[in-house]
Amino acid sequence: MKAMKDMVLVINGPNLNMLGQREPGIYGDRKLEDINDELRELAGELNIEVEFFQSNHEGALVDRIQAAIDDAAVIIINAGAFTHYSIAIHDALRAVNIPVIEVHLSNIYQREEFRHNSMISPAARGGIFGFGFLSYKLAILAAREIINGGID
Ligand code: DQA
Repeated sequence: MKAMKDMVLVINGPNLNMLGQREPGIYGDRKLEDINDELRELAGELNIEVEFFQSNHEGALVDRIQAAIDDAAVIIINAGAFTHYSIAIHDALRAVNIPVIEVHLSNIYQREEFRHNSMISPAARGGIFGFGFLSYKLAILAAREIINGGID
């Protein structure tokens, strides 16, 4: 496969395909496609490639992370509930050795205690949470800095 070295891969885990109708008081009223459209536009302005992947299945997420070795420069991931207990996703992120930005719409540390632990954070370069859909936009900006060498 042809490597697109500047490509930023945005991965969303379980139930994030339900954004818009899923607990809008917590996650906002934008659909995932609307968020992705905005990210595509922002990435265009910043002159970086962006691709999107969503799955409700842990194995499919692991498969896509592994495939990122060939095509992604940075991974932005909102692993949904898998954030809190998936050793498999943690291991996959460490295995590929690509900079990872963890994203959450909500502030997971203000919510139920079972959301306070992240299996993604120890495998991530950094994280952005609590800013709704803006968390993803901020992550795109951070990814651009990583690609351009603005962050060591
Ligand atoms: C979430 C927070 C998780 O705890 C939850 O399971 C989600 C969404 C967020 O974006 O705020 O599915 O990752």
